[in-house]
Order: sequence, then structure tokens, then C-alpha cells
Amino acid sequence: MSSLTKISFVSIVILLWSCGFSTEKRRPQKIEDTQELREVKKVSEADIINKTKKLGDSITRKAGGVFMSKISKKYAEGGYQAAAKFCSMNAYPLTDSLATAYKVFLKRVSNKNRNPNNAPSEMEKEILEAYEYSIVHGDKLGSNVQFIRPGDTILYNNPIKIPSELCLNCHGTPDQISEEVRTILQEEYPNDKATGYKVGDLRGMWSLKFLKKEIVQGL
Ligand code: HEC
Repeated sequence: MSSLTKISFVSIVILLWSCGFSTEKRRPQKIEDTQELREVKKVSEADIINKTKKLGDSITRKAGGVFMSKISKKYAEGGYQAAAKFCSMNAYPLTDSLATAYKVFLKRVSNKNRNPNNAPSEMEKEILEAYEYSIVHGDKLGSNVQFIRPGDTILYNNPIKIPSELCLNCHGTPDQISEEVRTILQEEYPNDKATGYKVGDLRGMWSLKFLKKEIVQGL
């Protein structure tokens, strides 16, 4: 072997070795690392979802209670015409300590919305459809959590059914809504679609947006 050939032979061996010719030793470690990563990720995603569900359930339960008591109180004070504007999120500053702490974006959406600002997004429409389907098939409805990808936002939804006849004073058939309330609704909401409901119907859903990093920090 000439010295030139010797040099090229040695450099080829070095090259092959450094390019992963001996990957046998490294491969098992690599697989373990990836598996470990996946496991960590899986666990933390499940934790994130559970935490979001718990927070969302608590926030919407409280908000629903606030709505009911405020509408009933305003009704007692001056009838449903007095209560009409208290079925709006705008009437309630975000005072829930959990919602504030987690910087939650809170709204209600409906396909048959009274306020066009409460129209669902494409993603929300699909979830509403799934809830409708469950109602038709007699399945139990529950809250739903999913990641909005790409990005770091988590969507929480919880169905809103018409729980009692109280709601029909403003969301029932025209004969169930007083003339005074109908006048207010026509003036304030010219494109109102939120009438004709009966008790047990799906009225819409809560739609909360959480930031993943806030949830992770709170874990
Ligand atoms: C006093 C009248 C009144 C009563 C009673 C009432 N609502 Fe409403 N509701 C309204 C008004 C007005 C809006 C539009 C609010 C806005 O501008 O965001 C609305 C909006 C909503 C929305 C948001 C979606 C949309 O249509 O814009 C939901 C959900 C809703 N109501 C559910 C209920 C439920 C459930 C009850 C019974 C617990 C109820 N409402 C009782 C007047 C009423």
C-alpha cells in the first residue's frame, strides 16, 4: 500500500465511523430517549386536559348560577323587560377568581344566536353538531376539551340546555314572550334567531379559551 492509499484508507475508516458506522452502540439510547419524551408528553397532555376540564367545569357552573340569579332578581324588580339585558356576557365583568387567575377568555355561542357576536367558529360549530347528535340519540352531554392546533390555546366547551321555563320568557315561542320583551328584542337584536325553544333543548354552549402555559404553571 502506498502511503497515499494508506492515508485515504484511514480517512475513509474515520469518515465511516464518524458518520454513524458504529451506530449499534448509540441506537438503543436514542430509542429510550424518544420513548421517555413521548411518555412525559403523553402524561402532561392528559394532566393539562384534566386540569382544564376541572377549571372549565367550575367556572361555567358558577357563571351559569350568576346568570340565573341575576335574571331572576331583575325580573322580580321589573319584569322580563328589565331583565333582558342581563342575559348578556357584557353585563358581567369577569369577577370569577379562577377565570381571572387563568386569564380565561369566556363566551357563549349558539347556532341560533340572538347576538351575532355569539356565532360559533368552524371548530365550535362541529362541537355544537356533536352535542345536537348526542341529544337526538339520548346520550349524556358533558364538557369537552381540545387543543387548538397549531398554537398554545385550549378550547373548553360545555353545553347549555334550556333548564326551565324561565328562559322561555325570552327564548320561547312568540306567544310565550310578552309584547314588551318582544319590542326590546326587535329593537336591540334585529337578526334574533334565539326563539322557539322548549325546556331541554340545546340553547348553545359555553366556550372558554385557556392558554396552555397558564394551565401548566398551575399544575
Ligand atoms: C329576560 C330575557 C332573557 C331571559 C329570561 C333569558 N335570556 Fe338568554 N338571552 C337574552 C338576550 C337579550 C340575549 C342576547 C345577549 C347578548 O347580547 O349577548 C341572550 C343570549 C343568550 C345566550 C347567548 C347566545 C345568543 O343567543 O346570543 C344564551 C346561551 C342564552 N341566552 C341562554 C339562556 C338561558 C339558558 C336562559 C334561561 C336560564 C336564558 N337565556 C334566559 C335574554 C334572555
